[in-house]
Amino acid sequence: MYPLPSRSLDQVAVALDTPDRETFDRWCALFGPRVGVLKVGLQAFVRWGPDAVAEARRWGPRVFLDLKLHDIPNTVAGAVAAAGDLGVDYLTVHAAGGPSMLAAAREAAAERTKLLVVTLLTHLDQESLASLDLAGSSTDRVSRWTAMARAEGCSGVVCSPLELARLREQNPSPFLLVTPGIRGLGTTGEDDQRRTADPETALRAGADLLVIGRPLTRAPDPEAALRTLAETLDSVS
Ligand code: C5P
Repeated sequence: MYPLPSRSLDQVAVALDTPDRETFDRWCALFGPRVGVLKVGLQAFVRWGPDAVAEARRWGPRVFLDLKLHDIPNTVAGAVAAAGDLGVDYLTVHAAGGPSMLAAAREAAAERTKLLVVTLLTHLDQESLASLDLAGSSTDRVSRWTAMARAEGCSGVVCSPLELARLREQNPSPFLLVTPGIRGLGTTGEDDQRRTADPETALRAGADLLVIGRPLTRAPDPEAALRTLAETLDSVS
């Protein structure tokens, strides 16, 4: 296994997307001591609740609870406060909830919890935007909603790798840019991600945190995939 600590693996969040509890626990034990962040998504949280967060935390990394909250401000504030009680380090909320929802979320967030705002979900193309009566290009909407998230004091946004360079130019550090859709580790074939980049390109374009699921978790040899990733990222940083 890659000797720890690798500074750049601190910028990797492994997405623990599985319906099987044994697999979830195995991934926590395998990746938890080696990467900066473990991401608990809706699939795991709906199945196992706070226990999924506790299991991820047990191995020492920061924990990213990816619930993509979107409701009236009072309800979201309550959920954000509850996530804070679980000791969550990152939590997602939807930009479409608007400034008042983001403000309520920020006020309710525990000191350790960084709020990450999901702008446009990556499966929404231009045609979907039109059918939702959302005017303008997806690029402009992502920029505008990112500006709103920043104005409301949120810590960062989740964005596709292809949006990174533009968003970084508009939003200097320490505003966080967190990106899924990382591919090119040479470990998986075709899947549902379309707007992708390799880890090196994403880091160079200004990503703070790379969210990586299947290229690590479904790799024939996850340890080898992690080692390759660490070597690649170390050569960038
Ligand atoms: O397996 P893969 O590397 O595609 O995992 C990416 C992770 O990032 C998944 O947990 C997915 O839910 C999440 N995500 C995404 N696109 C977004 C927001 C989150 O792929 N726009």
